[in-house]
Amino acid sequence: MNIAMLGSGFIGRFYADSLQGYRSRDKIVTVYSRREESTKKFAADYHVPFATTNMEEAIARPEVEVVCISLPNHLHEEAVMLCCKHKKAVITTKPLGRNAIEAQRMLEAVEKAGIFNGYLEDLVYTPKFLKAHESVKQGALGRILWAKSRETHPGPHSDWFWDIEQAGGGCILDLGCHCVEITRSYIGKDIKPMEVMCWADTQVKPIDAEDHAIGLIKYENGAIAQFEVSWTFRGGLDLRDEVMGSEGTIWVNNFLRTGFEMFTSGKGADYVAEKAESNSGWLFPVGDELNELGYNHMFMDMFNALENKSQPKETFYDGYVVNAVLDAAYQSAKTKQWEPVRLNIWRGKTGVTKDSHLQAYDNEHYLIKEEVTHYGAKKVILKNKKSGKISEKILKD
Ligand SMILES: NC(=O)c1ccc[n+]([C@@H]2O[C@H](COP(=O)([O-])OP(=O)(O)OC[C@H]3O[C@@H](n4cnc5c(N)ncnc54)[C@H](O)[C@@H]3O)[C@@H](O)[C@H]2O)c1
Repeated sequence: MNIAMLGSGFIGRFYADSLQGYRSRDKIVTVYSRREESTKKFAADYHVPFATTNMEEAIARPEVEVVCISLPNHLHEEAVMLCCKHKKAVITTKPLGRNAIEAQRMLEAVEKAGIFNGYLEDLVYTPKFLKAHESVKQGALGRILWAKSRETHPGPHSDWFWDIEQAGGGCILDLGCHCVEITRSYIGKDIKPMEVMCWADTQVKPIDAEDHAIGLIKYENGAIAQFEVSWTFRGGLDLRDEVMGSEGTIWVNNFLRTGFEMFTSGKGADYVAEKAESNSGWLFPVGDELNELGYNHMFMDMFNALENKSQPKETFYDGYVVNAVLDAAYQSAKTKQWEPVRLNIWRGKTGVTKDSHLQAYDNEHYLIKEEVTHYGAKKVILKNKKSGKISEKILKD
């Protein structure tokens, strides 16, 4: 694939490392960025033949087959509309829009233009997520009851993130978009998110947006998702997920505490991992960040889908649903009430009811719990179906 890269900053470089780092068939053929020096530097570093500070020029060149948007949030829509105009396949970083209104406009525009669209939510492509999700799909956890995702770090690396106008929000939008899509994927992307309750505050940073938030998302089948996001967390980038089902549990530690621990006095110390706050003392390096963060598997899915004329796992539609959930979170943080998720476009199931929580033990009883004690006894705790009386039956003394 011949790629136009829009943006040469933090994520543009991560993407370029992933796209061109593994003897890949895919090549960045044009790059656009705001400042001439950084555009030229990116072009030199990644051997990109055409560099420009004119966005449309980078997109419109005939050799470009797909446009990768790695620009600040307020520029996503403008870039998407230019891709529609020039009928170029488009993949865009997260969040899709600053809110669901922008996201809906982008979704409708790409579908009207008939162009391929992919949503670059890398954290549902990490090796650990892919494995965990496969187990969930096979039923190893039973019915998913609660999915929780945390992304916290000491705050982003560029000025525009901290400006509520350009970014569209604070850590809820910046980090919550990952958590919403992770938990939604575990619960089932065809299950409708119904309502959100969210606490948010600006605890530390001198900004207008929130720097810390915790939210709950109720799904139509009774499952609950939880996100914990912060730009005030000290100690690095904490990325953790937990899934609880009727038959099992998964805990995933994606970053920070992955089992790789290193001590250095600081002599010869260098880059350790994204958002690491120190390069001396006890450190938690990450083996292969591009892979651990899902970029390789994400681009593989995007380009395979593009070549096969199919859809990738994550499309603009998913980005739109995420934006709608986060809009409800912002509303709830204001009103301090459960707020409905307003989805003008919904393509999943509707009218799903909560699964029964009643498990029969025999004709007369429901099973509450089986127990084996430390002294070797076995018993079951039961509820009588008619009377409701709770009792225990000793199976072994
Ligand atoms: N894991 C992820 O998926 C991930 C991680 C980081 C950032 N992002 C997303 O990537 C996008 C870009 O973030 P970044 O971290 O690369 O930002 P950055 O500030 O490092 O880079 C932004 C790039 O956009 C260019 N640009 C063009 N017009 C600009 C303008 N008016 N203001 C500022 N920059 C302008 C800059 O020259 C620069 O090349 C954002 O939407 C962000 O949410 C995604």
